[in-house]
Amino acid sequence: MSAFLRLIRYASPYPSLVVGATLAMLVYGGASAAIAFLIGPVIDRVLLNQTGLGMVAGGILLAYFVKGLGAYFSSYLMDDLGHRVVKRLRNDLFRHLLDQSAAFFSRRTTGQLLSRINNDVGQVQRAVAETVGDLAREALALVGYAALLIYLDAGLALLCMTGAPLAVYPLVRMGKRLRTVTRWSQEAQEHMSHVAAEAFTGHRIVKAFGAESREAAKFERASHELYRTYMKVTGVLSALPPLMEFLGGVAIAGALWYGSREIAEGRLTAGGFTSFVAALLLMYGPIKKLSRVNANLQQAVAASERIFELLDTHTEVAESPDAVMLAPLSDAIELRDVTFAYEDGHGRQALRGVSFCVNAGRMVAIVGRSGAGKTTLVNLLPRFYDVTGGAILIDGLDIRRTSIASLRAQIGIVTQETVLFDDTVADNIAYGVPGASLDQIEAAARAAHAHDFIAALPDGYKTTIGERGQRLSGGQRQRLAIARALLKNPPILILDEATSSLDSESERLVQDALSTLMLNRTSFVIAHRLSTVRRADAIIVLERGRMVEVGRHDELLARPHGAYARLHQMQFQEGRRPATEPEDSALRTTGGPRL
Ligand SMILES: Nc1ncnc2c1ncn2[C@@H]1O[C@H](COP(=O)(O)OP(=O)(O)O)[C@@H](O)[C@H]1O
Ligand SMILES: [Mg+2]
Repeated sequence: MSAFLRLIRYASPYPSLVVGATLAMLVYGGASAAIAFLIGPVIDRVLLNQTGLGMVAGGILLAYFVKGLGAYFSSYLMDDLGHRVVKRLRNDLFRHLLDQSAAFFSRRTTGQLLSRINNDVGQVQRAVAETVGDLAREALALVGYAALLIYLDAGLALLCMTGAPLAVYPLVRMGKRLRTVTRWSQEAQEHMSHVAAEAFTGHRIVKAFGAESREAAKFERASHELYRTYMKVTGVLSALPPLMEFLGGVAIAGALWYGSREIAEGRLTAGGFTSFVAALLLMYGPIKKLSRVNANLQQAVAASERIFELLDTHTEVAESPDAVMLAPLSDAIELRDVTFAYEDGHGRQALRGVSFCVNAGRMVAIVGRSGAGKTTLVNLLPRFYDVTGGAILIDGLDIRRTSIASLRAQIGIVTQETVLFDDTVADNIAYGVPGASLDQIEAAARAAHAHDFIAALPDGYKTTIGERGQRLSGGQRQRLAIARALLKNPPILILDEATSSLDSESERLVQDALSTLMLNRTSFVIAHRLSTVRRADAIIVLERGRMVEVGRHDELLARPHGAYARLHQMQFQEGRRPATEPEDSALRTTGGPRL
């Protein structure tokens, strides 16, 4: 039940709503009891003695009016409270998820996370907004009725209430079952959302491989599973009202039997007895709603447990409590015996004992075969992951002791797949510097060779570029990413195969832009282009997570059977493109056939 208590704590910032709703409920409960009470005088005085019709009728009207007011305000205020609670929960969850590490996001898919934010939070919303109000209101009405019953005939009331514990047991059992099946249905929702999101994101591949039917079948299976879990929920929910109705019938039969004896012995008037039975019958409504409320509450608890589970996931990359601001890089970046293993890497170490030190302003190239650990290495610098052994130091300070924001503020990243947002070109360039002026944005775009194509867009810098920048070509996207990095102006730059996915013409433009970007920065460059690598101040050669060689291009190439020499030869044979630039000619003469 701790999930339930935590939900309640989310309501604590809104005491006035809670008080207002409670007052409205008290009014509702009181008016409900008053209506049942007024039935007594109807029988005893109006019907039998023909007096006071106006009074009683007026009283009943007034009671219904007041009850209506109570119902309106209690449900309005409780809804408001419910929506506010859920809004806070949703915002907390989103923020918390964004703060998670890269490892977290590789464990869960976008579809699954969206399902938590939409479906689980939605489930809680329905429960809190629509039924917690009922819970309190109907419980108060019930208290009102019970008070009336006791006032009218305590013995009879007690008799009727002995049945109550009998009802509790099946309710509790069903509640537990409901929580379990609700969890299943939320899991099925999550799975379905994951299947759909994956197919939509990969729509081009799905179509290219003619896999629409297969994806549709996958979705249908997930959808059928969801249907099955829903039917399990329905199975429990539908059993509740008949059960409550039957128990109500038992209570009324008992009341009739005992009540008629009470009247015969003169302890109760016919009117009083009618009031009693009326109150009993009227209790049925709240009891039915309450059993339903309990059911909905169990569903909310099931959904909120799943939400709290995520909220309780602590990020692996947490900021240390005594974190210090990192001053702009002035001296060096040092990797000291760095080891790293992915959590789901089957115990394999992606990096083993990597040590080197880069002076500020230098350009380091990292080369190695695919899977050697290049991306892993550069991902450690902005702490997308934390090292599992050793340390990374910037100007002598372990980056785990610096504030994450001040660390990341110093690092610019351009990767193979650029991430752009469905926003204007200008806003995408200014993503890291939200207040940038249009002049600054344009200057960055010019330096990134992006200005010309941007100016040719229908609305220039104000053009929206579609989800993930789909309305632009790969080279254009890449140049926007470079302009973005230029505008941020970070002292440390990471280029992870920034030109690998481009055709040779855009590659040349992007390469030019990158050269501008790298000026006066400390850069880590992962590139397949040997012209870039050749210019590097140092080349680090990785092989299966180990740093096997380090040196300048000429030195490394001079080693006859060195790793770099082999790699160089391989790339030369595999990767040459027909349109090469003159500056590559040195590479062509170093061996291998000329194509
Ligand atoms: N998120 C991940 N979880 C588990 N293993 C990973 C993950 N990312 C990469 N790896 C593994 O780590 C090794 C190094 O990968 P990576 O650094 O991406 O190589 P490179 O960039 O040199 O091609 C590979 O064996 C790869 O399978
Ligand atoms: Mg890589």
